[in-house]
Amino acid sequence: MTTVCTCELARRSDAEAISNMSRWLIEAGLTPTWVPERVLWHLRDRESTVLVARDQTTLVGFAIMQFLDTSAHLNLLGVMPSRQRSGIGRQLLHWLETSAITAGTFLIKLEVRETNFAARRFYASMGYGEIGTVKGYYQARDNAVRMSRDLAVAS
Ligand SMILES: CC(C)(COP(=O)(O)OP(=O)(O)OC[C@H]1O[C@@H](n2cnc3c(N)ncnc32)[C@H](O)[C@@H]1OP(=O)(O)O)[C@@H](O)C(=O)NCCC(=O)NCCS
Repeated sequence: MTTVCTCELARRSDAEAISNMSRWLIEAGLTPTWVPERVLWHLRDRESTVLVARDQTTLVGFAIMQFLDTSAHLNLLGVMPSRQRSGIGRQLLHWLETSAITAGTFLIKLEVRETNFAARRFYASMGYGEIGTVKGYYQARDNAVRMSRDLAVAS
């Protein structure tokens, strides 16, 4: 079932919740690197977009994308487990892709843990292709699969 949430730019007051959710959703088993200060840095950075999905006032998802010279890098994307598989991840990614197209940045890149098959299937369903493996990308403990999508090419 698809849930309609509000996707909007994050506020400074969301940094702690984004950091907490990243710790257990994305960095489980690793030394946390997405500390609130790092999220706040991206909130201040003009080349980054920090996005949240809210259901009423509850933060149910988040994403951070950084715009580089010729591509954009999706740093984080997460949805609260109880709300997964209801279209929120798709909504967040569509929002970021639309803003990338508006900015004239068509190539989106990301890394995902090699063992994170759910996320790999999610990105594949969103038109992302696997372009390689990076050994030890996650603190020399886990490999990453690098994925990308060229938004100028219809999927
Ligand atoms: C990956 C993640 C962001 C997907 O968000 P989501 O809101 O659950 O995904 P959606 O409901 O928008 O799914 C869109 C499509 O992706 C695919 N998909 C999503 N989760 C899937 C899963 N667990 N298994 C297979 N396909 C999946 C499906 O095709 C789905 O469409 P459908 O439900 O109509 O079949 C979410 O599972 C998550 O937060 N995981 C933990 C954090 C993480 O791994 N982040 C990514 C790495 S940074």
